[in-house]
Amino acid sequence: MLIAVLFSGAITFPRFVAAETGANAWLRYSPLDRQAAKAYERLPGVVALGDSLVLKTAQQELVLGVAQMVGTTLRSGVSSPRENAIVLGTFTKLRELAPALRLPAKLTADGYWLKSANIHGHECLVITAANDRGVLYGVFALLSKISRGEPITAIDEVQQPYAPIRWVNQWDNLDGRIERGYGGPSIFFADGKVRSDLTLAGQYARLLASIGINGCTINNVNAAPGVLEDNFIEQVRRIADGFRPWGVQLSMSVDLGSPKVMGGLDTFDPLDPKVAEWWRKKVDEIYRNIPDFGGFVVKADSEGRLGPSTYGRTPADAANVIAHALKPHGGLVFYRAFVYNHHLDWHNLKNDRAKAAYDNFHPLDGNFDDNVIIQIKNGPIDFQVREPVSPLFAGLHRTNEAVELQITQEYTGQQRQLCFLVPMWKEVLNFDMHVNEDATRVKDLVAGRVFHRPTGGFVGVANVGMDANWLGSPLAMANLYGFGRLAWNPNLSAEEIVDEWTRLTFGSDPLVVKTLDAMQLSSWHVYESYTGPLGAGTLTNILGNHYDPGPESSEENGWGQWHRADHQGIGMDRTVATGTGFIGQYPPEVQTLYESLARCPDSLLLFFHHVPYTYVLHSGKTVIQHIYDSHYDGADRARDFISQWKTLEGHIDDERYRDILPRFEYQAGEAIVWRDAICSWVYRLSGIPDAKDRIPALQ
Ligand code: GCU
Repeated sequence: MLIAVLFSGAITFPRFVAAETGANAWLRYSPLDRQAAKAYERLPGVVALGDSLVLKTAQQELVLGVAQMVGTTLRSGVSSPRENAIVLGTFTKLRELAPALRLPAKLTADGYWLKSANIHGHECLVITAANDRGVLYGVFALLSKISRGEPITAIDEVQQPYAPIRWVNQWDNLDGRIERGYGGPSIFFADGKVRSDLTLAGQYARLLASIGINGCTINNVNAAPGVLEDNFIEQVRRIADGFRPWGVQLSMSVDLGSPKVMGGLDTFDPLDPKVAEWWRKKVDEIYRNIPDFGGFVVKADSEGRLGPSTYGRTPADAANVIAHALKPHGGLVFYRAFVYNHHLDWHNLKNDRAKAAYDNFHPLDGNFDDNVIIQIKNGPIDFQVREPVSPLFAGLHRTNEAVELQITQEYTGQQRQLCFLVPMWKEVLNFDMHVNEDATRVKDLVAGRVFHRPTGGFVGVANVGMDANWLGSPLAMANLYGFGRLAWNPNLSAEEIVDEWTRLTFGSDPLVVKTLDAMQLSSWHVYESYTGPLGAGTLTNILGNHYDPGPESSEENGWGQWHRADHQGIGMDRTVATGTGFIGQYPPEVQTLYESLARCPDSLLLFFHHVPYTYVLHSGKTVIQHIYDSHYDGADRARDFISQWKTLEGHIDDERYRDILPRFEYQAGEAIVWRDAICSWVYRLSGIPDAKDRIPALQ
């Protein structure tokens, strides 16, 4: 039987490239050309097996996407199919309808199965999952395939998330500003309140769901105690209502001092029973307003925040008192490992901020409740353009962990410069910590696969704002997309991820795909070459905007982002033999890699070793000549982005073409500013001239 709901008269769309702002990101659903649309014109109506909120969203999204891309309006219903149909529903529901269908693999929460199947004589396309959210993810996956022109006939595909935790953090302040946000003001807050119009919050949840992100922390880790006021929780409830149709759980950052600072107690000592009771009541109240609340993120004893050290208590004491209150509701505590002393004595060559996370948390392994997750920044310092992975990933065997990656480009060009971070994240996630004889990669440690932890995963600091294209630059959205895709499946390659993103965001014109993929994939190395070479850090102004060159700002203060450059040499000696001993925090195999100059990779040399400028790298160049050459080369390659982008004129919409071109022109200029600042700084220090005689200020 042919389908009654089939839209037989094919609608044709003129071939034009519509003007766009970037607001739809990778969910443009732009009309396919006639040839491509043919493959999907016979899609039948869509039947949902149930009427839950998320299932309804899934059904609506499918109808919307197909209507826009293919031009056919799918009929939708909620009963069992009496004709060919796309069937949406959990596997439990599906089995009632089609008991003969056998899952090829056990589905975990949020995983889905796309399957062409014959149900009672009808040809059906089944999108099923263990839970409704998985069905929604299956719908987005199907729409992504259609958008990229992939075949969907005779489909049989299971996709499962790598880890249960795939969350973003927003560092939004209640006054509407966003800490380290470069895409405009907060979509959640203004003037100390939740915004009255939360349309963008719902649209953001849709974007997040489309890449498998299932949680969002809405406020700054430097949390305002006011978020726990009764009347604020009632406001936050409206944001959660906007997230819920998309299966995104809301969570909040909290100030550990809250019981005292806003709660009326005379203490916030985590071991005081009054404090425990206070958290219990507060959490109960939150769940009365937001029954699917996700939990809390805690930044304590860090950069001036209150913490358990006030009472001589440990991070485990602090995390557990809150975890205890959340436990009956299924909530989680994300306790951040970013705890360090920012008044370190810089005169002492043995002091090292990089050691802080491991020193503070490793001794507590096993002391955290099982609904606590230690949230660990990818590197031991702070989202620099290159760092080794944090040794703490290998230091927790009886504790849940999550990696914190930064989508917002705080130290990597602040969205004004192109820096696609997926290749960097891939290096982090694939790094083998050698915790035991098997490969123990960071992605497996955080996913809880190595030590069989109940939970764990991936957190990305996103910081989208009200700018039309969310992050302040349409190209930077590749980082949000890439984070979601990697959190879902860290085994995807950077090439696969960027290729999906480009096709979904700009279409599948071969020139566009080839050019943009290549630009994105090279951009991290380009940015690194004209900013912070050989693992020295970003060499930016660390006391100010974290953007302009400012290598002097790192030294002679307590922040500990030292590179120890002087007249003889550069780099921080973190060896066990003669340095701070940081390398000793890694498992033995990794120590061997970094401790010896002979084995330490050039890319991290200055993170681990202090060497003379004349030291010869594995590449055969001296350190000083490498710094000069990489800065000149990086600036040249940044300039080349302009001509590469120009080849795309007429191949993408004019609006985005013209919006993005001046960004590359600006970046080329900034790269020269960086090049000249760093080259002359290092020349002044070392007195060793550039072998190619290029440093303008000194010629
Ligand atoms: C960095 C960043 C701060 C932020 C902190 C954190 O230091 O510059 O703005 O608060 O990280 O992650 O807590």
